[in-house]
Amino acid sequence: MTDMPGHILLTGGAGFIGSHTYVALCEAGHEVTILDNFQNAQRDVPARLSRLTGRDTPVLDIDISDAAAVRAAFRAHDFDAVVHFAALKSVPDSEANPVEYYRINCSGLVNITHAMRETGVNAMVFSSSAAVYGAARHMPLTEDTPTAPTSTYGATKLFGEDFLARIARAHPDFRTGILRYFNPVGAHGSGLIGEDPSQVPGNLVPVIARVARGEIAQLTIFGDDYPTPDGTCIRDYIHVLDLAQGHVLSLDALLNRGESHLVNLGTGRGSSVLEVLGAYGDVLGRELPHRIVGRRPGDPPVSYAETARARDVLGFEARYGLREMCASNWAFFNR
Ligand code: UD1
Repeated sequence: MTDMPGHILLTGGAGFIGSHTYVALCEAGHEVTILDNFQNAQRDVPARLSRLTGRDTPVLDIDISDAAAVRAAFRAHDFDAVVHFAALKSVPDSEANPVEYYRINCSGLVNITHAMRETGVNAMVFSSSAAVYGAARHMPLTEDTPTAPTSTYGATKLFGEDFLARIARAHPDFRTGILRYFNPVGAHGSGLIGEDPSQVPGNLVPVIARVARGEIAQLTIFGDDYPTPDGTCIRDYIHVLDLAQGHVLSLDALLNRGESHLVNLGTGRGSSVLEVLGAYGDVLGRELPHRIVGRRPGDPPVSYAETARARDVLGFEARYGLREMCASNWAFFNR
């Protein structure tokens, strides 16, 4: 139980990270309302969350780009804080549709913060991404590593960070927790929620899950000539349950200690593509097939987090390893 539970608005709360955070916030004693338009989430997620938590899941079926509906929602409720997940998140899509990415990720954020200011809601946890670092060369990535997003997606996240910093500067009562996620993987132990398997995946672990099920013949590995021990790219994969806990700690800092913060949420450990494939194969007890092709444009060779600030400021420490991430992904995907 957190010291001071509040009524939290969770935008994008039916999505992958949002739904896991919903459960963690309920367990911490908060009252939580989801706002989602279900564009990128299954309609039955709230029902599954109700099964998991043993209580009704309040949902506002609203699009964050609908400013009037957002304002009406804030006037009708008494929120203490917002956890803002609702956004578009595909890097290749963001290159093809920049206007749509700015409309949702930037205008949507403006709509939410406008309604917050209007109704005196002064705390926001914001979903940012390691994508704001772009192709930084020095590892690990610290929060002081210069930001230089290479993708439009990353640029919209950096816009959000900068915008929130400006609000906080103008209004000292406005507190923000900026969380830069590394690569989220895994699912809740119940197998009831996880990363929506109905979507055509581009991210590594959802693709491996499809190889495991025989829906794809083999994993296509994008490059084995990187300057890494096995030649494949290295990323900082973090269990979605650890990420969810990071949001509980972030809200705690905002609501109970009045402390704004900007932190990486990663494990601080890098794993190569071949290591992830191997870990998934270990869970299944068989080797999964792969083939090597050329590099994917825009992929940084190595990316992992410096985690000291999240530990010092929030008391955050990732508890799960690659095996748990792969095993829970498989359990959800195969349920
Ligand atoms: C991607 C996004 C990042 C976003 C994150 C969310 C890009 C460039 N970056 O990160 O902004 O925050 O997802 O999860 O898209 N790989 C293969 N074969 C595959 C799929 C992936 O070899 O079929 C490799 C990639 O080359 C990469 C690693 O696996 O080295 C991880 O890829 P992915 O899961 O797409 O994540 P990122 O690219 O790190």
